[in-house]
Amino acid sequence: MRHCKMAIARLIACFVVYSSLGLIPSSFGVILRTTDKIVWANEFEPIELTCLIESISTNNPRIEWKKIKNGVPSYVYFQNRIAGDLDQRAQLKETANILIFNATRSDTAEYRCEVAAIDDQRDFDEILISLAVRVKPVVPRCSVPEAVTVGTSTELRCLENEGFPAPLYRWFHNNEELAQDPKSSPKLVNTSYSINPDTGGLKFRRVRKEDAGEYYCQAKNDAGYAQCPSQMMEVYDVDYLGIFLKSFGAVVVFFCLAASICHSLRRGCFSKKGHNENYNWPAQSDGVEYGNADEGHFRHKSSFII
Ligand SMILES: *[C@@H]1O[C@H](CO)[C@@H](O)[C@H](O)[C@H]1NC(C)=O
Ligand SMILES: *[C@@H]1O[C@H](CO)[C@@H](O)[C@H](O)[C@H]1NC(C)=O
Repeated sequence: MRHCKMAIARLIACFVVYSSLGLIPSSFGVILRTTDKIVWANEFEPIELTCLIESISTNNPRIEWKKIKNGVPSYVYFQNRIAGDLDQRAQLKETANILIFNATRSDTAEYRCEVAAIDDQRDFDEILISLAVRVKPVVPRCSVPEAVTVGTSTELRCLENEGFPAPLYRWFHNNEELAQDPKSSPKLVNTSYSINPDTGGLKFRRVRKEDAGEYYCQAKNDAGYAQCPSQMMEVYDVDYLGIFLKSFGAVVVFFCLAASICHSLRRGCFSKKGHNENYNWPAQSDGVEYGNADEGHFRHKSSFII
């Protein structure tokens, strides 16, 4: 008898512990479960948000779904009807799942499934699911310079704003992908480019003749990819003749200017003062003579005084 009582007490204790840990579904109230709390869907594809009723005593629970976007909740299933943002675009399945026929980017939000069974002991449960709709990138905007000079630096740019999650960028040169890390390949040891896969920039520190050619960029995420049409980049040698002619021209112009300034100055001096061309010479030699002759003069004077 005592044994029996103890066994029953143990059983009850076990049951209480297990059910409080949630290991045994309680038959006294609503319990919900989902297969995925974080759901990724592709845009323009169907997606089902699962809200499985694990246990319930009543046959006729009240089911509601809310969409929470930027902290603002709105009904998407209410009074046994799809409503709000999902109106005409979804249906309720398997008691409480919601099936969106054709997901769009604006469906990215949190969704809360709420089930109430008034007659149950535990009369309410809810489950929060976050849905992220992947968006395929559109054709990126690419900018490739038409012509650059050997040895100069340049940057090619690529930008795409629609894709979600944000795409990563890759560059192609003459239809061959440029390695993200050129240092990894011995073939690319002499190149000077670097790619930023997050921003889409392709930078050349020093452009080489071999860098000329067709370039295009690809924006890619989990939903797909898109690329811009290829554009030609030409690379010109440094124009030595041009540079020589330009600097030669500059030198010639400088000398012409200097000569004409000199000439007009001389003529100006001439006509104003009416002196001969040697006007400066006496002044200069005077100065020199005074400097040199200073001591002599002084001695001379001293000797005179003495
Ligand atoms: C989904 O919606 C888009 C845009 O509204 C439409 O172009 C596309 O055909 C739809 N896809 C399906 C499978 O209904
Ligand atoms: C890199 O440059 C060096 C020196 O100009 C040259 O000898 C070598 O062949 C080049 N390597 C490649 C792979 O082009």
